[in-house]
Amino acid sequence: MNHPEYKRLKNLVELHILDFLPEIDSKSLTLYEAMRYSLTAGGKRLRSVLLLAACEFCGEKADIGLPYACALEYIQTYSLIHDDLPAIDNDDLRRGVPTSHKVYGEDVAILTGDGLLSAAFETMTKDMLLYLDDPDVLKRKVRAAFEISKGTGCRGMVAGQIADVESVNRQCSKEMLDYIHLNKTAAFIRSSVLAGCYLAGADKERCNAAATYGESVGLAFQIVNDLQDITGDAVMIGKNTGKDQKAKKCTYPALFGLKESGIKARELLNRARESVSMYYDEAEVFNAVIDFLEQPLG
Ligand code: IPE
Ligand code: IPE
Ligand code: MG
Ligand code: MG
Repeated sequence: MNHPEYKRLKNLVELHILDFLPEIDSKSLTLYEAMRYSLTAGGKRLRSVLLLAACEFCGEKADIGLPYACALEYIQTYSLIHDDLPAIDNDDLRRGVPTSHKVYGEDVAILTGDGLLSAAFETMTKDMLLYLDDPDVLKRKVRAAFEISKGTGCRGMVAGQIADVESVNRQCSKEMLDYIHLNKTAAFIRSSVLAGCYLAGADKERCNAAATYGESVGLAFQIVNDLQDITGDAVMIGKNTGKDQKAKKCTYPALFGLKESGIKARELLNRARESVSMYYDEAEVFNAVIDFLEQPLG
């Protein structure tokens, strides 16, 4: 994602990504080292950039969202470390480097994911503690954290991951596929955009536009991800390809083929574009993400 405004927000996240990690006991250096390894390996920082972009979209400075943006990256990184484990997708490469369990072993990788997940909630609640005397601002932060909890937990990403795991070797239905995509990917991305709006105290209209945008982009994002597993280049995407078919995963290309999947992704991206079209330049970063996802669709 080379758009200058996207890069500006991404740089902000990368500059501060280690700052919000809890101070770690010298006896737990392996944990810190493993968290740092995966957090700094790269990644598009999509969810955190969208949260910061949403703060700006709603008229606030991106800085107010930084602890929450970094928390999203802690959750994103934990989810990938666990997703790559031999018990789930069994992947060796992530963000262009060996996966956590390949470097540190499965035991440490599981605990590193656990540590990152808790760090996310420590980071958000630590920020809230600074605002106990300002109920209006505190309310915004609580709403944002609640949204992130829902989008990434048992009613969101984790629910989707369970459905994904259980779909293997079963007849893949459209209903199951939609459930997986809505939860494992779209719920997380939607909650990232909405959390930014809540932090900025946005009105209902902007929150609704952002929710539709986040869900549509999230659904398209997973289709593009699954298309790239078939047609993408491992060096470019930083992970091995051809895994979904081998693992008999329930994906859009598996159910509808490459062409239909591309059409569906485009439809979703058009819906995303439409949802923020009335905001013109204010939605610049949102539109840059749509353009980026459209590129591999040809
Ligand atoms: C990978 O997410 C997991 C999916 C939901 C497809 P990303 O492709 O955003 O991974 P990073 O954070 O850029 O590595
Ligand atoms: C991962 O989905 C989604 C998560 C919630 C971690 P995938 O398994 O399809 O993503 P990749 O292909 O490993 O990045
Ligand atoms: Mg997976
Ligand atoms: Mg995977």
